[in-house]
Amino acid sequence: MFVRDLTLRDYRSWPSAEFTLAPETTIFVGRNGFGKTNLLESLFYVATLRSHRVSSDAPLVRSGADVAKVSATVENDGRELTVDLAIAASGSNKAAINTRPVRRTREVLGILRTVLFAPEDLALVRGDPSERRRFVDELVAQIRPMAAGAKADYDRVLRQRSALLKTAGAAMRRGETDSVISTLDVWDSQLAEFGAQVTASRIAIVRHLAPLVTAAYGSIAPHSRPATIAYRSAAGADVDASPGGDDAVDEIRDILAARLVELRDKEIERGVSLVGPHRDDLELVLGDEPAKGFASHGESWSFALALRLASVDLLRADGVDPVIMLDDVFAELDVRRREKLAEFTEGSEQLLVTAAVADDIPTRVSGRRISIGVSDDGPRSSLVVGDEKISPPLEQEGEAHE
Ligand SMILES: Nc1ncnc2c1ncn2[C@@H]1O[C@H](COP(=O)(O)OP(=O)(O)OP(=O)(O)O)[C@@H](O)[C@H]1O
Ligand SMILES: [Mg+2]
Repeated sequence: MFVRDLTLRDYRSWPSAEFTLAPETTIFVGRNGFGKTNLLESLFYVATLRSHRVSSDAPLVRSGADVAKVSATVENDGRELTVDLAIAASGSNKAAINTRPVRRTREVLGILRTVLFAPEDLALVRGDPSERRRFVDELVAQIRPMAAGAKADYDRVLRQRSALLKTAGAAMRRGETDSVISTLDVWDSQLAEFGAQVTASRIAIVRHLAPLVTAAYGSIAPHSRPATIAYRSAAGADVDASPGGDDAVDEIRDILAARLVELRDKEIERGVSLVGPHRDDLELVLGDEPAKGFASHGESWSFALALRLASVDLLRADGVDPVIMLDDVFAELDVRRREKLAEFTEGSEQLLVTAAVADDIPTRVSGRRISIGVSDDGPRSSLVVGDEKISPPLEQEGEAHE
């Protein structure tokens, strides 16, 4: 698949922009802070309905504006769909598919599939479990878009249940025990239901992803120890052992419900929700050790790359060649890993690359080069200042050289 048109209005540093792209490699070059990542972020948002950098929408709207607009026309196997998004600085967002408004923005999930490699990816290995949960959820949103509804329902139930737990202890001391317990019972059953759906989708994805990660890591770092990943539920090993997917929902729901009963006193005492997919993690292991805390800097980068490469493989296995976006990652990698990444991404249908320094990009990655600048008058605004085709180096043109 590829993005044919991208139009932005008041998206971060871009007051307006229109790009016509092709199934080829496009490199966006510009100095630090000129708005390159903003472009990739806008496409990532179309694919996942969230930014890879911030958890709220307000920063995406250009300062002084109320709404940011992103439109993308995606071509997949000759079929074309246009997604229009209106991202509000406050209040709810709107979406349309082929100019027809949709009831819920999440209906656009699945239209654009993309894997974004970014400097922040190191946090997948070194950061908190929330980083890894987000990684899995972004894949779930793209591969099983229907499951995104369960995640939204889960988040809502979790918020309300957590609010109740915060005040439950005090309410019970005031003698309101019966009403607290009966309300909690209702939230518990919903938490277990939606929690099971979220968990089952995640586990299914992780099961498919795991062998791909091991293989990708082995090819990037052949001399390192084998890399493995596994889903770790806060509800215990019984959940981890589940095959995941729709058939596993009932079983996981029962396990979560039983854990909630066991943990009730503790949850009331501590005032927080202690079990459910919001407490789970994706365990990353190198050899016999957890990658976090043990892996070297280079190994951590290899692992992060392996997670992204495996994501591409997973989406391809699902029948779609995703748009690959490389956000200034070559600068972060040593020569070997740069070459590996260049080699891997070579055959992709559409590759979008950003770089502050064009020399950081391996010469085999060539194509169209769009230069980004900023206007000097008034508030900083990104704009296109150059657009040229760069031919591949001679060595790659075939036999002529041999
Ligand atoms: N909501 C916003 N309104 C206006 N400008 C914004 C907004 N959010 C970010 N910016 C501007 O966007 C710029 C950063 O854009 P971006 O992250 O795309 O840069 P970049 O070209 O990727 O830089 P680097 O090479 O350092 O990664 C900053 O100058 C910032 O001031
Ligand atoms: Mg950037």
